[in-house]
Amino acid sequence: MTVGAVIVHGGAGSVPEERRAAHVAGCARAVEAGLEVLRAGGSALDAAQRAVEVLEDDPLFNAGYGACLNEAGEVELDAAVMDGAGLRFGGVCAMPPVRHPIAVARALLEEGRHALLADHGADAFAVAHGFERLSADALITPAARARLEAVRAGRAESGWAGGTVGAVAWDGAHVAAATSTGGMVGKARGRIGDSPIPGAGTLAEDGVGGVSATGHGEAILRSGTGHHVVAALRAGASASDAAASAIAALHSGTGSTGGVIVLDGAGRPGRANNTETMSWAYGTSTGERDAGW
Ligand code: GLY
Repeated sequence: MTVGAVIVHGGAGSVPEERRAAHVAGCARAVEAGLEVLRAGGSALDAAQRAVEVLEDDPLFNAGYGACLNEAGEVELDAAVMDGAGLRFGGVCAMPPVRHPIAVARALLEEGRHALLADHGADAFAVAHGFERLSADALITPAARARLEAVRAGRAESGWAGGTVGAVAWDGAHVAAATSTGGMVGKARGRIGDSPIPGAGTLAEDGVGGVSATGHGEAILRSGTGHHVVAALRAGASASDAAASAIAALHSGTGSTGGVIVLDGAGRPGRANNTETMSWAYGTSTGERDAGW
């Protein structure tokens, strides 16, 4: 039997009680999709990408369809994928709508010329590589419009970044991490968060582990949350302890909130968050399943 593990998150935040089960179910579906890829002989990189694509298609989450809106009412997407084998990385930032920004990030990783592309450059790359450019409103849900309206009307704070999605997968040899988000509600045009930045929102290194972060992007960028997790793993911490210490460092350094999911270099899981909720799910190809918020 193929050995493998997949862990995903559906964002750190404060999801109302009545919606938590749906968020967890969405995460569990993404884990199954990732495990299916591993069963079919796919790599950790394939599995992490597929798990994130499932979450990008789910309007409950702030990524792909359902992404939050910037202050101009537009979708601008951040996504990244990293292969622990060779530290290969591809990320897109503040990108106009495509159905699966994580797949564009993967194409950039495979091309290998650049690690990050933003805005028009990311859009041109996507079109040149066969991705369909969507209309400006194709990914906008009623809930995303309502969230921006609430911010504009002063009924909610700007800066909500809940619902970012991520996955870390291990295929018995390699670890990979992927993260995708619409960013923060009411963000400035061109704002880039932690998700597409290696060492902040996304990081993977074979033999050490992988991490996907969620939460307040500016704080995660400043704290180097992904690097913190991988440094702790390298120093011998368990996946759970590495996750907890990165979130403790995020809070002590910036006073801010977030969460991480982690697999160590042998596929053992860990997670931590200092928010009210962070939906997550975990599974292995040997039949283990766990999930929560
Ligand atoms: N953590 C997602 C963001 O701030 O963009």
